[in-house]
Parts: sequence; C-alpha cells; structure tokens
Amino acid sequence: MDTATDIRTADAPPGSLHPVVLQPFYEDSHITLYNADCRQVLPHLEIANAFCFTDPPYNVGKDYGVWNDKMPEADYLKFCREWIAEVKRLCPEICIYPPTKYLLEYWTMLGREYKQVALTWSPEGAIRGGWVNQFVTLLTNAKPKQRTKDWWHNCQMQGLGYFFREESYGHPGYTSEDVTNRVLAAMCPPGATVIEPFAGTGTTLWCAKLRGMKAIGCEVNPAYCKLIADRCSQGVLGLENTEVSHD
Ligand SMILES: C[S@@+](CC[C@H](N)C(=O)[O-])C[C@H]1O[C@@H](n2cnc3c(N)ncnc32)[C@H](O)[C@@H]1O
Repeated sequence: MDTATDIRTADAPPGSLHPVVLQPFYEDSHITLYNADCRQVLPHLEIANAFCFTDPPYNVGKDYGVWNDKMPEADYLKFCREWIAEVKRLCPEICIYPPTKYLLEYWTMLGREYKQVALTWSPEGAIRGGWVNQFVTLLTNAKPKQRTKDWWHNCQMQGLGYFFREESYGHPGYTSEDVTNRVLAAMCPPGATVIEPFAGTGTTLWCAKLRGMKAIGCEVNPAYCKLIADRCSQGVLGLENTEVSHD
C-alpha cells in the first residue's frame, strides 16, 4: 500500500494497470529521501512553505558513480533549466551554491533579483605555493532572517584546503556543514520544509534535522542514499540548541 510520501510519477505504463510509484529510500520524522533524479520528484511536490538550499553537480568531471558529471555543455544547461524551473515553482526563497564556471548562466536562470553572497577566507590561511581563489559565492533571493553584521565570518569551507576540518565522507562534492548551517539559520523561513534536490552525503538534510526542520531530498546514487540514511538515522541531541556560533 502507498504511504503519504510515495510519489506517483506517471500514469500506468503500457501493459500495466498500476502507475509508477516512487517510494522514499529513507524516511524519519524530519527527513524524506528519494533515490531518484530530482527531475522525477520535484514536479510532484506541493508544499506550502518550502525553502531550497542546494549545491548541484558542477559538470566538472567529478565521479558521482551513476551520474555523468561531464556532459556536453548544452545538455548540462538544459538539465539546470529543468531543475531550477521546478525549484522556483516550489520555493519562494532559494539559495544555490553555483559553479563558478556557470555563474552567469545560473544567475540568468534564477533572475536578476538574486543577490550574490560572497563567502571569503583569509589569504594567509589558504595559500600553498601560490595565489588561489579566495572566495566562492551563493546566489539567493532569500531575505535575511536576522540582522547580523558578520554572518559569514570565519566560515569553514572547502577552499580552506589543508585547514578545512570537516568530515567529507569520501564524497567528491561534499558541502560544508558550517556553510549549510549558516544558510539555514540566516535564510530559511520559520517552519519551512527544506528542499535539497542534490543530497550527496545529506549535509542539508542532516543540518535541517539538527535544527528541528523537515527536509526532502533527492539523490541519484544509491550508495550515497545509504550514507545519508546512516547519517540521518543517528540520534539527535539538543535539537533546540543549534544556534550558529561566531567564535
Ligand atoms: C555537489 S554534490 C551535493 C553535495 C551535498 N550537498 C553534500 O553535502 O554532500 C551533488 C550530488 O548530486 C547528485 N546528483 C547528480 N545529479 C542528480 C540528479 N539529477 N538528481 C539527484 N541527484 C543528483 C550526485 O550524485 C551528487 O551526490
């Protein structure tokens, strides 16, 4: 029997009396995870108060197993237009961690009202034998939920190289928990369900759960879904006590 979170992806295929039903790979009181292409799932979601934070595949040749991360550029941009259109339909406020290479295209797809938030790190910490990029950007149309002068100060993220100290679960495109937590705290509307089309290791889902929020994720690679299920099924202590620290 179907559960409330099963998704009927299509009418009955030829020769079958039953529609295709997509069941969650993992579900708990906060998280629903689908092992599927997000373009199969997003069109079926209708949520009154939804916020999206995602770090999509960048089409730079990372090994995501079942997903080709080096498509012809036109195919990649078509794919982006498809999932971004669905996210925009579903979520009034959105924050995306775009690839630097396709920043202009993402900005155009999202809209000129989106702001660019620059996450920076100190040059003395990041240099190893030469100059490197010292910032990455987020694109968002979300209103800040609090007034804070130094919201992004001293953020832990991948560009810190040697100095980055978070567990990455061996995933080639892991997103920093620190960035994710700050985005959720700064931008997510109260009571919103967090939508994560590209769950990866489940950082967004896990951080949402720690903050007592509901979240829905999609991930094409079943091995990553297993990782997410293991991560999200851990006991959660002190849900109410997860404010961002600016130490
Ligand atoms: C940059 S990673 C996401 C990182 C994630 N925020 C984390 O912290 O691990 C992108 C992920 O999207 C997945 N992916 C790629 N295309 C997808 C699609 N069409 N639908 C769902 N997941 C997809 C990849 O397998 C990969 O794990």
